[in-house]
Parts: sequence; structure tokens; C-alpha cells
Amino acid sequence: MPKPSADNSKTAKASRRRLLITIDGPAGVGKSTVAKLLATRLHLFYLDTGATYRALAYEALRRGVDPRRETAVARVAGRMRLQLDWDPARGLRVLLNGRDVTRHIRTEAVTEAAAVIAQHPNVRAVLVRLQRRLASGPGVVAEGRDTGTVVFPHAAYKFFLTARHAVRARRRQMELRGVQGRSPTLTRIAGQLKARDALDRSRVVGPLVKPPKAIVVDTSRLPAERVVDRMLAALNKGSDPSRTMVTSDGV
Ligand code: DC
Repeated sequence: MPKPSADNSKTAKASRRRLLITIDGPAGVGKSTVAKLLATRLHLFYLDTGATYRALAYEALRRGVDPRRETAVARVAGRMRLQLDWDPARGLRVLLNGRDVTRHIRTEAVTEAAAVIAQHPNVRAVLVRLQRRLASGPGVVAEGRDTGTVVFPHAAYKFFLTARHAVRARRRQMELRGVQGRSPTLTRIAGQLKARDALDRSRVVGPLVKPPKAIVVDTSRLPAERVVDRMLAALNKGSDPSRTMVTSDGV
């Protein structure tokens, strides 16, 4: 058994004091919708870790910093003042250095830059510390790629969402239409998702993997409310690592 790092033992102490729930999975599986609903139902803080990568990507682009330059991006990360203002009625507001950037961080350009900066170990280290600081309140529903493995490895409950590729592409298209008023073709989005999946799964630090003992939910055919109902049922039963809730036809 490896000795826990200082960071990990701090996280362990913090997680004993409050309820931590993690939801990981690739883009377009409905993590944000489900995490917000679950946080609302349980009166917990909603932590969108992807928003920290997006806000940093936005800030790097705004400052003319090339997302591929790890040291320069890490420096920007260390200086940014980020606030995640969660209110179940109003939704999530992302404030960067006091400015509301909620919508600006959802564009295609920022999405692509975020995928690049998320590859840098030094950048991830800064953002993981920031995410732990942002997770305030008596409990947290954290959502992302590595929340159950790296950010909160001691979380009481861990979920891993999946969905069929075509479903994910359609969801992403709807999201982009909502943000930009237009979107690329489904074929283009499907290609972008494949490329992001490859980056997310292959990086050395904080890759997208199912956390050990996480409960898997396939959301391809389930509306978000039903996914949340199932999660709540699992929470009420207690986390049973052997359970897998596969709900699609598995295509
Ligand atoms: O979930 P999202 O699309 O908002 O995430 C934006 C980017 O940040 C995406 O490229 C994956 C990355 N990310 C990450 O590497 N680790 C996380 N915990 C959350 C997001």
C-alpha cells in the first residue's frame, strides 16, 4: 500500500468531515446535468472541475498564451482568481478575476484549448489544489474526469457515467447551439469527441478512468432525472462496489 501523500491525507481528513460524491466520465454523458440535479436534491455544493480547466483556457487565450506552453499556462493558473458561484435556482456562475465568464468558457475555441492545457501535469497540480479549495460547504457533488481518482480519492460515493458515442455527439451539439446559437455538423462533433476522449484517456496524470469501486451508469437511454433517482437509490443502499447499473442495450 503506497504511503499517502500530504495532500492525500489532508483530503482524507476533509472527506471524513463531509459528504463527498464524485461523478466522472467522458464529454457528453450528461455529467453536468446529473451532478447539478443531485447537488440540488441533496443540498450540496456543485463542483464543476471542468469549469476550472475552461476558465484557465479562456484566460490563457485572452492573454495570448499558447495553451501548449505548460510553464506559461501554469503561471496563469497560479494567478487567476476563480469563484464558482453555485445556486440551485440560478445555476452555476463562473467568475474569473471578478468577471462573469460563464458563457464565454463554453465556446468551441475554449473547449479545444482546455483539452490541451488539461494534458500538463503542472497545470493539473495547480487546478486540483484550487478545486479542493473551491469545494465548500457540508458536502460536495464533484464532476469531471479525475474527481474520484485524484481530486477526492476518499469520496464516500463514486459514479462513472457512460453513453453511446452518437448520443454524446447529439448532446454536445445541443449544448453548443444553446451557447453559440449554432453548432458544427454531427460528424464534426463526433470527430472532436473522439479526439478529446483519446487525450483524456491517454494522459499520464489524471487520465479518464473508472475509479475503482465506482458505480457505472449508462445514460444513453435515461433522462437525467431517472439517472439521479438511480444514484439516490444507490446512495440510500450504501455504496456497493459490485453493482453496475447498465441501462442501455450496450451498443
Ligand atoms: O467536462 P468539460 O468538457 O467541461 O471539461 C473541459 C476540459 O477539461 C476537458 O478537455 C477535460 C478537462 N478536464 C479534466 O482534464 N479533468 C477534469 N477533472 C475535468 C475536466
